Amino acid sequence: MELVDTGIVGLNEMLGGGIPKGHTVVVLGGYGTGKTTMALHFANRGLELGEKVLYLSLEERKESILRASKQYGMNLDNENFILMSPGILDFLERLKNKENIKSDIQDIMPSRLIVDSVSIILMAAESESEMRSVLLNLSDSLKDLNVTTYFLAESKVESPYSSRDGFSEFVGDGVISLQNRYDDEKGTTTSIIRILKMRLMNHDRKAHPYLISERGMEVLSRSDVYF
Ligand SMILES: Nc1ncnc2c1ncn2[C@@H]1O[C@H](COP(=O)(O)OP(=O)(O)OP(=O)(O)O)[C@@H](O)[C@H]1O
Ligand SMILES: [Mg+2]
Repeated sequence: MELVDTGIVGLNEMLGGGIPKGHTVVVLGGYGTGKTTMALHFANRGLELGEKVLYLSLEERKESILRASKQYGMNLDNENFILMSPGILDFLERLKNKENIKSDIQDIMPSRLIVDSVSIILMAAESESEMRSVLLNLSDSLKDLNVTTYFLAESKVESPYSSRDGFSEFVGDGVISLQNRYDDEKGTTTSIIRILKMRLMNHDRKAHPYLISERGMEVLSRSDVYF
C-alpha cells in the first residue's frame, strides 16, 4: 500500500508511515489548534516530492495562508501549488452536482487536496441534508480520482471529538484530532494530537503532545500526555 508523507515526522510515526494514498482525512479541532498549520505541512511536503497540490481556502484569504507558510519557513511559491479561495456560495453550487465537481478536480488533477474548511459548507448550506449531500459528492469524486485529501473541520466546543457539522467524521477514512487542554490552576495550555480513526492502518491510539513554533508543527510522538 502506498503511504503519503504528512510532512510531520512525529505524525508519520504515529500513523505507522503515513496516510494511505487516496484517503480522505478529517483534521478535527477547535479554533487556533493548528489545523491550517498541519495542512500547510502536508502541502509543502507534496511540493517537495514534486506532486501537485490544490489548497481550497474557503475562510482565509490567500495572502494570509501564504504569510503563515512563509513564517514556518516553507516555500509554496511553486507552479505545482494551486491556491484557490472560491466564494463559498459558488463553491456550494458547484458541489451540488457530482459530475461538475469531479471534472473541476480532474482538470487540475492534484495528488493532494486540502479543503480549509468543510465547516463553512455547513454554515452556507440551506439545510443539513444539503450539506450532507454535497460532502458526499465531494468525497465520492475524490475516491474515484484517488486524491489524498485533508478536510479541516471545526470541532464542537462541548465534545471535542465530534465535528460541528456532525457528519464529516463519518465520511472521512481517517480522523485526526487536535486539541488544546487548559489547566486553569497552573495557567498552562497543552496541545495534544490523537488519531481517532485511520482505515487500513494499525496506528498509534495514544494521545501525544505537539508544539507550534516558527518551524511549524512538531509532534512529540515519543512523549505521553498525562491527565
Ligand atoms: N510563528 C509561530 N510561532 C508559534 N506559534 C505559532 C506561530 N504561528 C502560529 N502559531 C500558533 O498556531 C495557532 C494558529 O494555528 P492555525 O492557524 O494553524 O490554527 P487553525 O486551527 O487553523 O485555526 P483557525 O480555527 O483560526 O482556522 C496560533 O493560534 C498560534 O498559537
Ligand atoms: Mg485555519
